[in-house]
Amino acid sequence: MEDDVCVRFLQWLLPRLRMRYPGFRKVRKQVCKRIQRHIKQLKLTDAKEYQHYLQTHPDEWLIVDKLCRVTISRFYRDKVVLEHISKEVLPVLAQAAVTSGETIIRGWSAGCAAGEEAYSLVLMWDRLVSNYFPELDIQVIATDIDPVMLGHAISACYTYSSIKALPEEWIDIAFSQQEDVFCLDSRLRNKVTFNEQDIRQSLPTNVFHIIFCRNLAFTYFDNSLQLEVLENIRDCLVDGGALIIGGHESLPGGYSGFCQWPGQRAIFQKL
Ligand SMILES: C[S@@+](CC[C@H](N)C(=O)[O-])C[C@H]1O[C@@H](n2cnc3c(N)ncnc32)[C@H](O)[C@@H]1O
Repeated sequence: MEDDVCVRFLQWLLPRLRMRYPGFRKVRKQVCKRIQRHIKQLKLTDAKEYQHYLQTHPDEWLIVDKLCRVTISRFYRDKVVLEHISKEVLPVLAQAAVTSGETIIRGWSAGCAAGEEAYSLVLMWDRLVSNYFPELDIQVIATDIDPVMLGHAISACYTYSSIKALPEEWIDIAFSQQEDVFCLDSRLRNKVTFNEQDIRQSLPTNVFHIIFCRNLAFTYFDNSLQLEVLENIRDCLVDGGALIIGGHESLPGGYSGFCQWPGQRAIFQKL
């Protein structure tokens, strides 16, 4: 598919899925490649015909929604933000939890891909924070719409390129290498529970101290859907809890109920 055709097609399609084209600008080639392959499988000639096909086949919207998913992730993504979390955010949340008599710090990774973000949180807690709070443990719920990604997440085995941003010492301590694959230690793996969930339709039932929602809602969803998701996220946070968004993301226009965490534009605190 030519680039200008791809851009025009996505600009037509995405608002109908409650998504926004600017979020897809950088990844449009991979998304259009997938859509083009699908158009071929349907024995249609081009994007124009597919547009018509979508208008006459209501079930096709679920398929095209799936074709628009982007699943790239890696351990310790946005390292500077994560370092700030382990130094400035987790200790504050942990102290508040201890003061109110809790024994677990609860985290949620929304749109967890293959578990890289959820396991990074557990590693940060284990390596940098847990010693100061021996009375606390961490439990993380990680959700994603894609069952294939969740299968990978549960296996917790990765290539070096996925984990290379982690401090070398953590890799040596927390992973065992089997040929060219690195598998996370079961003690840490067991601190994360994975569930299949569409963030547009359902949420975990727990209340969390920290929620990661990065490179999903605040990149790809349109403003009104972002606001809906943000409101739901807010309901899932304890008062004073932290929301982490992607390093290149911002909260939707018209949001309320959060303030910026001092020193980091990707971290917000529930008011
Ligand atoms: C780009 S990855 C981001 C992974 C991780 N949060 C990060 O920042 O590295 C987006 C993930 O969101 C998932 N996803 C897409 N739409 C979703 C939805 N409606 N509900 C839940 N997960 C979704 C995708 O399957 C993918 O694994």
